[in-house]
Amino acid sequence: RTVYVLNGPNLNMLGKREPSIYGKKSLADIEADCRETGAELGLTIEFRQSNHEGELVDWIQEAGDKAAAIIINPGAYSHTSIAIHDAIRAAGLPVAEVHLSNIHARESFRHTSYVSPVAAGVICGFGPVVYTLALQALAARV
Ligand code: DQA
Repeated sequence: RTVYVLNGPNLNMLGKREPSIYGKKSLADIEADCRETGAELGLTIEFRQSNHEGELVDWIQEAGDKAAAIIINPGAYSHTSIAIHDAIRAAGLPVAEVHLSNIHARESFRHTSYVSPVAAGVICGFGPVVYTLALQALAARV
């Protein structure tokens, strides 16, 4: 069973980008954590990042064919992207939406996510551990 772990714009900058908000771990560190937890849970991890909305849509469609579940941190596209919302609906897979920061405790433009209504669940605010928590939550479903 494969879980796609998809990361949206600017998450390639993790570790360097506003570490007071997003922490010091790089995306490669998070990928390593996901692989470790995935192995423990018997899940194969397909880990990707893109700064491009359409590429994320392509990968969600691909996951619909190839994966059992998706973890997605859509970054700022969470707050804007009907295309990602639609792709998730069409994929018909359980999706865990994750955010490193607590989007509800930040600027009001981050309080709405177009992804949340089509996610099986949302985990935010606990830093990089949100990814491995989401893997554990999805392991029970796939
Ligand atoms: C984020 C929160 C978003 O509001 C922001 O645009 C990001 C990262 C998070 O992981 O906390 O890029 O998704």
